[in-house]
Parts: sequence; C-alpha cells; structure tokens
Amino acid sequence: MKTNIALIGFMGAGKSAVGAALAEKLGKQFIETDALIEKKAGQPVPVIFEEKGEIAFREIEIEVIKEVAGKDNQVIACGGGVVLNRINVDRLKLKAVVVWLAVTPAAVLRRTGLDGEARPVLKQVKNLDELRGLIKFRQPLYALAADIRIDTSRLSIQATVEQIIQMTEEYADKHK
Ligand code: S3P
Repeated sequence: MKTNIALIGFMGAGKSAVGAALAEKLGKQFIETDALIEKKAGQPVPVIFEEKGEIAFREIEIEVIKEVAGKDNQVIACGGGVVLNRINVDRLKLKAVVVWLAVTPAAVLRRTGLDGEARPVLKQVKNLDELRGLIKFRQPLYALAADIRIDTSRLSIQATVEQIIQMTEEYADKHK
C-alpha cells in the first residue's frame, strides 16, 4: 500500500499550504522538497538559481526526491518543476499517490504576483500570455504523473484538503 501523498502542480497551486494542513490532519510527516534542497545546498532557492544555475538546482532536486521517495507516511510538497525530470516521477510513484493541484493562469497570477525574486522561474515570465504558455508546456507532464487531479483555483485550503482525503481514499479502495 502507498503511504505517501505527493503534491505536484504549478507554482501558486497551494502545494505547501495544503500539504501542511493535510499532513496535520492525516498524522503524516510534512516534507517540502524545496526546503530540503535549501538545506543540502546551504542556500535559498533563488540564490542556487543565481549562483549555480537551474541545472544544478534540478540535480539537487533529483537527489532529494530519491531520498524522500524511499520513506513512508509522508505528505510531500514538491517544487513545481519536479515533473520536468521523469526520474523524479518514477521514484515518487513507487510509494506515493500523486495528486496534481491544478490552477488557472489567473489564479497563479493572483497568488504569486509573478514574483521572480522569490520564484526564479517566473523571472522569464513577463505577462499573462507568457504565463499561459509556461503552464501549457507543463500541463501534459503533470497530467502524465498524476493519479488524481483537483482544480484548486476556487477552493480554500481546507476544501482542498477535504477533497484530497476523499479522492485518495477512493483511489486506495480501487487499488487494493
Ligand atoms: C519551480 C518551483 C518552485 C521551486 C523552484 C522551481 C518550478 O517551487 O522548486 O523555484 O520550476 O516550477 P514552488 O512550486 O513550491 O514555488
């Protein structure tokens, strides 16, 4: 039986806020892959991007996912780009039900303010059209990885948590 829940989705989908509340409710350990990457690198994510570049960031992300994916009973909030490397998805799926928190570009814009300082990938995004393009590029990767999809654009954190619990229970029933 899969005892982990991995949350994937674009920046601003609510993976961290939802993940913390979900872990608390289910009595599972809450893990944020970005926090583990920062610990390993000894630097905040934007500084890793700035000083070492995105490739180095992705390499550390792969290491962190490898470590986390082998443990049990966790809610794992993944960085938005985790699906860019298929090896991450394959590793996560060994022990996790993968839940895609989907969001509309408008909700991403509202929640992130396209803040490129906090989220370096958004530095490349100048307007809503470019944001749509980036989300569209990622969408098939999230879809391929996900066991469950929930659109969080209009859902509160609590409502999203309830939906995840209901849908992961249904998933577990079907995959006994
Ligand atoms: C990224 C998302 C970020 C972080 C890094 C890259 C991405 O995580 O991992 O800045 O490529 O989408 P959040 O989705 O938690 O903001």
